[in-house]
Amino acid sequence: MIVLGIETSCDETAVAVVRDGGEVLVNLVYSQADLHARYGGVVPEAASRDHLRKLPCLAQEALAAAGLGWDGIDLVGVTYGPGLIGPLLVGVTYAAGVVLARGVPLVGVNHLAAHLFAHRLGWPEVPPPFLGVIASGGHTLLVAVPRWGEYRVVGGTRDDAAGEALDKFGRLLGLGYPAGPRIDALAEEGDPGAVPFPRPMLESGLDMSFAGLKTAAVYWLRDHPHTPAPDLCAAYLEAVVDLLTEKAIRAARRFSLPRIVVVGGVAANRRLRQVLPGRVRERGFEVHFPPPELCTDNAVIVAACAHHRFVELGHADPLSLSPDPNLSLDGWA
Ligand code: KG4
Ligand code: ZN
Repeated sequence: MIVLGIETSCDETAVAVVRDGGEVLVNLVYSQADLHARYGGVVPEAASRDHLRKLPCLAQEALAAAGLGWDGIDLVGVTYGPGLIGPLLVGVTYAAGVVLARGVPLVGVNHLAAHLFAHRLGWPEVPPPFLGVIASGGHTLLVAVPRWGEYRVVGGTRDDAAGEALDKFGRLLGLGYPAGPRIDALAEEGDPGAVPFPRPMLESGLDMSFAGLKTAAVYWLRDHPHTPAPDLCAAYLEAVVDLLTEKAIRAARRFSLPRIVVVGGVAANRRLRQVLPGRVRERGFEVHFPPPELCTDNAVIVAACAHHRFVELGHADPLSLSPDPNLSLDGWA
């Protein structure tokens, strides 16, 4: 079964062609980062217009790269939430158009569930149960996954997402948008112990707070304006890594889950990928990261999730499928 995956929930226009839920034929990701960089963050209206401009070309390009015509597509999977309403509308409307023209099934995908499917693509031989850590620019969640298709959110951030905390910090340092990859690179040259950034709520519960960390950075920069950027980045990143690591272990223990799976854009971070596994294994849990290119937003994960939903859960959506900017992952079915 050939699935066309479409992703437009934020600032990446992405189209993928995936065979049988796991074999990636084409993976195209067009980032709008340059468009939004001058504003320091995503401008929703500009994002919608750019998706509208780019998506039809990208879909044509994906089919051509797969050596297929429109009649080669058996199913269309599209992100319908959570995300920005305008961008989501572009993807969902385009998907419905393809479905209407071709008479194939439509499957709406929860973007957060799609992030978890990066694990299934990267580690098909390692099934649930697991504790999923979704750390992206818009969300940071701890999710108990007893089996594919069953998602229980057990913790997460009360304010900023982990990626958002990195992006806002990067903005303070003038690193451009998104700052995560720049912080990743600069931190390699810095000392993680250089600045005593706080670890808010480290010892309590399964919730996290990253806004306090950003405030601490604002005050530190005011009082120590000459701290080298690599040290600042290494120390700030270390606080984010410590928080994600400890909360993930705490959640896995609380819900007796044998393994921890880390996904979302922040899971591409090198320091997190270096530090978290050792600490997790020390406490007796297994740990898996998908390949970095499946961690950041893409449509392969959307196609994989849609395939699972259609083939294993028997679910398809009507043409009237509406975007839901606030779609929750907890109990999504
Ligand atoms: O999952 P994603 O691509 O989009 C959302 O669903 O939000 O995540 C984007 C976030 C951004 O905040 C970006 O700065 C961060 O992931 N990110 C990284 C890295 N690559 C992307 N953060 C740290 N290190 C990276 N290498
Ligand atoms: Zn995402």
